[in-house]
Amino acid sequence: MKEITTFADVRCDRRALPATIVNLPGTRLDGNCGARITTFGSAMTPPIPVSARPPAERPLNDPRVDRQFIGDLVRDFYGRVRADPRLGPIFAAEIRGDWEPHLEKMTDFWCSVVLKTGDYSGRPVPAHLKLKQVREQDFQIWLGHFRATAEARCPPEVTGVFVDRAERIARSLQLAMFFRLDRPAAGAVA
Ligand code: HEM
Repeated sequence: MKEITTFADVRCDRRALPATIVNLPGTRLDGNCGARITTFGSAMTPPIPVSARPPAERPLNDPRVDRQFIGDLVRDFYGRVRADPRLGPIFAAEIRGDWEPHLEKMTDFWCSVVLKTGDYSGRPVPAHLKLKQVREQDFQIWLGHFRATAEARCPPEVTGVFVDRAERIARSLQLAMFFRLDRPAAGAVA
């Protein structure tokens, strides 16, 4: 049986998919054929039926959370990631030399995710698909650092917003990287 490594070009029973395919920039859910995920840039990006769309997220409206705040959070988080014995070498292999462009890109990303600024225009799925040394369990380490950073820097009600979005995007990236048709994802809709 052909091994399917990504959601791109996968058609399958909608019930095999978890309910948490969310607003990950760069990913589209096409409900026309049951279940098919296409990524930005694919020739196949037909309109998404309303029934297949997750509810739109609202921008966080908290005067304490602006680009400066998010930039500081991002820098604190990647400081922890770089010091992590498992994740540090993975990032070091990809980002050689100046980290500032990556930190600015990630600030754009989080401003887009939380404040809906539209600052980020990259493609996270392909960027992660090429990271062959990443294991599924690594996401728990990543999320652990993210949660700890958010708890240390954010008011409690803001922590929840960042952590919830990070968990859902992490889930989407994990599905894109590790989903197999013969091993339906945990949390799949019955
Ligand atoms: C084990 C977990 C993860 C690892 C090891 C990882 C690693 C990396 C690496 C090495 C890059 C740089 C790739 C490059 O510049 O070519 C990257 C980019 C990125 N990561 Fe992750 N990542 C992880 C999880 C996540 C999660 C959970 C999110 C979002 C919540 C995320 C968001 C991003 C974004 C937005 C980029 C920039 C993609 C682009 O536009 O080039 N990552 N990641």
